[in-house]
Amino acid sequence: MAPPKTVRWGILATGGIAQTFTKDLLVDPKTRGVENIKHTVVAAASSSSRPRAEQFLKDVGAPSDAKAYGSYEDLVKDSDIDIIYVATPHSHHYQNAMLCLENGKNVLCEKAFTVNAAQAQALADKAKEQNLFLMEAVWTRYFPLSIYVRDLITSGRIGPVARVLSDNSMALNPEESFSDGKHRMVNPDLAGGALLDLGIYSLTWVFQTLYLTQPEDSRKPPKVLAAMKGYAATGAADEMTTIVLSFPRSAEAGGDAHAVATTSLRVATTPGGNGDAPGIRIQGPKGEIQVFPPAFRPTHTKLILSDGTVEEKHFAQPGPGKGSGWKNGFGGGSNAEGEGHGMFWEADEAATAFVDGRKEGKYESLAESILIMGVMDEARRQGGLKYPEHIETTKYPVQL
Ligand SMILES: NC(=O)c1ccc[n+]([C@@H]2O[C@H](COP(=O)([O-])OP(=O)(O)OC[C@H]3O[C@@H](n4cnc5c(N)ncnc54)[C@H](OP(=O)(O)O)[C@@H]3O)[C@@H](O)[C@H]2O)c1
Repeated sequence: MAPPKTVRWGILATGGIAQTFTKDLLVDPKTRGVENIKHTVVAAASSSSRPRAEQFLKDVGAPSDAKAYGSYEDLVKDSDIDIIYVATPHSHHYQNAMLCLENGKNVLCEKAFTVNAAQAQALADKAKEQNLFLMEAVWTRYFPLSIYVRDLITSGRIGPVARVLSDNSMALNPEESFSDGKHRMVNPDLAGGALLDLGIYSLTWVFQTLYLTQPEDSRKPPKVLAAMKGYAATGAADEMTTIVLSFPRSAEAGGDAHAVATTSLRVATTPGGNGDAPGIRIQGPKGEIQVFPPAFRPTHTKLILSDGTVEEKHFAQPGPGKGSGWKNGFGGGSNAEGEGHGMFWEADEAATAFVDGRKEGKYESLAESILIMGVMDEARRQGGLKYPEHIETTKYPVQL
């Protein structure tokens, strides 16, 4: 077997998810059976200061020769970088990803990809023009659990999917958790609200079960009906959004299919982090597939068929293992010792695509990312939610 190719990453921003991602990235891919590539971190940049980037590199255990930059503009000029991971708030993704692409860098960009579909389209156009790799970092799509669920669907175990109910909600008590209104969850200047931050996962489950599983030439955009409740404390942000989608399908493929995608900052899919009720139900005439919360990092599924068959599965999050002393997690939470967070699978896909010369992710094309951004645009249009012009614009560069 050929030796693994090493892919050199640059990390743009040093916040919560940048830490989690980079720690996962540095776990030996062999621990999850990946032999074709290896990852290394060659640089990180903070927009606030160089010492912050230095501290970040120390905290995540990056190689000692990794470079720390005090601006994103310096990072994108580093010729040692193969791919840049963009981990700023979604309000900034368009400007930051465009900066990378303009400077000839491949990009893995956090969700939500951009603020709107026009920005997503402009990034895709720029990547094509520059012949660069670009992918939205919807990590859940690359989980073995998601691949298993999609395989269950295409193998016909539940028959043609007729309906999907999909929720990603967290009782965050926004007035208390985000009392100054500045947090990206509620701040209009950071494209705050439930839809772009959490609802993207509800839509991810809808699209990867009702759209991606269709033969490519028969996938059609859904009709969209949305209700949105604003978050009173900061005005232009949603605290709850509900989207009804109708996917056109031929009679032979099962006819039209429906989905309900829901998200809320105030109620939880299952209260207290208790994952005992399925947040996602994928229903067909022969049974249903249940996926248990959280929608973004699920580890538990149940297949229930009308003939009484029940197949339950628990998926591991591999990592360096017990006794390694290594821990990862997000937002103050900690996984068990040696257990990965699960962000390495998307990184493996981005690195493999880079090595193979592919320009898009395998399980979510840029066209699908743009389509989903368009669904969120339509939900916001129906709900009357518009963000400030400087973060909705496709103009570049704009100082944010
Ligand atoms: N995949 C997942 O599971 C997951 C989980 C959480 C978040 N996310 C996504 O990741 C992105 C970042 O979320 P996060 O939780 O990491 O946020 P965060 O902790 O607030 O970090 C964001 C970082 O972006 C940089 N930044 C640049 N301009 C900023 C500004 N005006 N305001 C705030 N930060 C700014 C800062 O880093 P520097 O000062 O170093 O430049 C900051 O540390 C969001 O798009 C979010 O949706 C994904």
